[in-house]
Amino acid sequence: MVRFGIIGTGRISDWVLKGAVQDPRIKIVAVCSRTVEAAEAFIASNPMAAGAKVYTSVEEMAADPQVDTVYVGTPNQTHCLYTITALKAGKHVLCEKPLALNAEEGRQMVEAARESGCLLMEAMVSTLNPNFIAAASRIAEIAPVRQYSSYFCQYSSKFEALKRGEVGTAFKPGTAGALRDVGVYTLYPLVALFGKPSSVKGKLSTWQTPEGDTDVYGTACLEYDGMDATLTWSKTFDSFQPTEIAGENGNLILDEIHIARKAEIVPHAAPTSGLGPKPGRTLISEGLPYNEYYYEFKEFADLIEQGRTESSRNSLETSLTVLEIIDELLTDWK
Ligand SMILES: NC(=O)c1ccc[n+]([C@@H]2O[C@H](COP(=O)([O-])OP(=O)(O)OC[C@H]3O[C@@H](n4cnc5c(N)ncnc54)[C@H](OP(=O)(O)O)[C@@H]3O)[C@@H](O)[C@H]2O)c1
Repeated sequence: MVRFGIIGTGRISDWVLKGAVQDPRIKIVAVCSRTVEAAEAFIASNPMAAGAKVYTSVEEMAADPQVDTVYVGTPNQTHCLYTITALKAGKHVLCEKPLALNAEEGRQMVEAARESGCLLMEAMVSTLNPNFIAAASRIAEIAPVRQYSSYFCQYSSKFEALKRGEVGTAFKPGTAGALRDVGVYTLYPLVALFGKPSSVKGKLSTWQTPEGDTDVYGTACLEYDGMDATLTWSKTFDSFQPTEIAGENGNLILDEIHIARKAEIVPHAAPTSGLGPKPGRTLISEGLPYNEYYYEFKEFADLIEQGRTESSRNSLETSLTVLEIIDELLTDWK
């Protein structure tokens, strides 16, 4: 049994519990909120949290011997403090994406995890998705890979609010913005598959808010040995482009990188010169039988059962490299 204390009672905690409930090893034993009222309302509306203890202090919840694991579902600028507090109290931590505000904070969190001997994992849903894993397992068949192109573009209700002058968490200058909010979904899988790029260039488009400029969409080009990657993310327009990994011997296509519901492989046929038949696509995914957030809880509970302190799929090295790239893109933008 993995006994979770949840920090934050917002929409994301609500969403992930719908996945957590599908793993019988997960139990919610405590909820920590800035207010008792919000914690009580969250417990009342989530049957899985029924009977959970209410806390308004992360330190106090982390000291509760009934809690052995903490889920951090609060804004980016709180991840480092809450994660380190929980790790120092000997609790495992599943922390929302991006792991931290920047690479420096990320390194402090990783150090705290290694010192504590507890499990720390970024709740990056995309790379634990079985359809993504199915595609990743076929890369050798299309190698050498020459290009990765990925999109996450969604016209967001938060952008609608921004246009009315309301700066929500997702657009807070200095702590969020489109890159950290959705661009990370195009970047994390790239780094999980191919590691650290040799160079990064990007362009972030901004929006003026009374609290400063925030990034609302962007693109990045990343260079690898023999391969490059292009990423496009946005909260101001939609895109229906799939994510594609293109190799000399074929292509892998994911319908959506955030939560892939379909993965296909297209083995390269004879070299073509314009006209001629196109090679057929073969479905390699099996859909998504569980809630999309189930898989991160399954991975987490599996790792605890195995006594491991790090996921090889959502590794801390990947999280740190992603944060370094985000830092670089944000520094270039300023
Ligand atoms: N995995 C995904 O699909 C996904 C989707 C959306 C967001 N996220 C991530 O989830 C995190 C939260 O994002 P969000 O948009 O859900 O944020 P949010 O709604 O503003 O905040 C979530 C909860 O955190 C607590 N909170 C808010 N402001 C806080 C503050 N300044 N200090 C401490 N706690 C605060 C609140 O709970 P209480 O009132 O109970 O304290 C709030 O309901 C971010 O890191 C984001 O990147 C992940």
